[in-house]
Amino acid sequence: MTACRICGGDLVEFYDFGRQPLSDAFHKPGQFQDEFFFRLAVGLCTDCTMVQLMEEVPRDKMFHEDYPYYSSGSAVMRKHFELTARRFIETELTGPAPFAVEIGSNDGIMLKTIADAGIKHLGVEPSGGVAELSRSKGVRVLNEFFQESTAVEIAATDGQADVIFSANTICHIPYLDSIFKGVDALLKPNGVFVFEDPYLGEIVRRTSFDQIYDEHYYFFTARSVQSMARRYGFELVDVERLPVHGGETRYTIARQGARQPSPAVAEMIAEENARGLATLPTLEGFGENVTKIKDDLVALLTKLKAEGKTVAAYGATAKSATVANLCGLSADLVSYVCDTTPQKQNRVSPGTHIPVRPAEAFHEDTPDYALLFAWNHAEEIMAKEKQFRDGGGKWILYVPEVHVV
Ligand code: SAH
Ligand code: TYD
Ligand code: ZN
Repeated sequence: MTACRICGGDLVEFYDFGRQPLSDAFHKPGQFQDEFFFRLAVGLCTDCTMVQLMEEVPRDKMFHEDYPYYSSGSAVMRKHFELTARRFIETELTGPAPFAVEIGSNDGIMLKTIADAGIKHLGVEPSGGVAELSRSKGVRVLNEFFQESTAVEIAATDGQADVIFSANTICHIPYLDSIFKGVDALLKPNGVFVFEDPYLGEIVRRTSFDQIYDEHYYFFTARSVQSMARRYGFELVDVERLPVHGGETRYTIARQGARQPSPAVAEMIAEENARGLATLPTLEGFGENVTKIKDDLVALLTKLKAEGKTVAAYGATAKSATVANLCGLSADLVSYVCDTTPQKQNRVSPGTHIPVRPAEAFHEDTPDYALLFAWNHAEEIMAKEKQFRDGGGKWILYVPEVHVV
């Protein structure tokens, strides 16, 4: 048995996805001899209820100069983060010398609005390519991993922050002890640490198992976040459900005693407890649903191939590495994956080596069926590709179960 990365308690494994590659490692065709694999499995801490990976991938293998995830690729996400920034400007950044820090600022999708408003800010972003792009948008960024030492350095140079924000990044960081110590050093006495990540309650409800991959180390609930915050001298003071990325929760954390917790916190924890969310029977049931989706998807794709139908995939997401490798997909069943990200195009998908082609391929070489790997952007993509369905094309979705629309 492995120990919980947060509290040292017993970690009980509940699903093994087997041998998996780095989810964002798109290799050049033929250049994958040294491809890295690890065992992707998830477990529950029976003490603090934190759900987490059983094995940790070294951070430099995932986040580096060539990290190919560019947040601004989705119009819906650009809007989401513009509104997030505006809300901070109106609520938390109203003092005489406001200062906002973002952990994992990527291509500047959120901080651009704060920069344009002339407010002092700093992004902390270890991946060089995305950090450079954010600089070209006028965003100030430190090209480093956020951890206690980075935070102490920033506090000494720039002073303490009113807001420390982080989206889809805190769940990527195994070493949260160092993060909370860093937040302690960097946050003003009445400041807030706000982060949003995929919500375990939604992953279980929709069986969105492809949220589980190397970069997603933790799967938070209000209860596990509250317990973790208290361990480091903080308190969970607000929670808000977000519709983006298939269902997330935004957690607001303040120093203990600094702010009055909103009733939403206790309500959400009560709801999680009532449904037995972070318990072994629930998570083992989730695992059974995952295996069913895997079997159904393989059966459907095999049947379509036998019928002579063509299938391509849409969106070379990190999530899709889990589905594709769990199902053992290959270019034989899914001829290509289209994606708008230049850094992924003309490369092959991790582990399964399906060619990644530009979005235009979808119009030039239109398949009979499109497997929607970017299902979290379904509304945006289906609107953009309306002519596909009008022309008789069909979408295959596998969340919450395998179905064709
Ligand atoms: N906030 C953006 C990006 C999420 S992708 C969004 O929501 O779309 C996760 C980002 O976290 C990557 O850009 C990665 O380089 C960065 N990251 C990973 N570990 C980090 C750390 N320790 N400190 C700061 N950023 C980190
Ligand atoms: P996303 O689901 O946001 O994240 P992750 O990689 O963490 O699972 O990734 C969306 C991918 O889909 C990204 O590579 C960009 C691509 N994409 C398109 O090709 N077309 C689109 O219209 C959208 C919205 C995304
Ligand atoms: Zn624990």
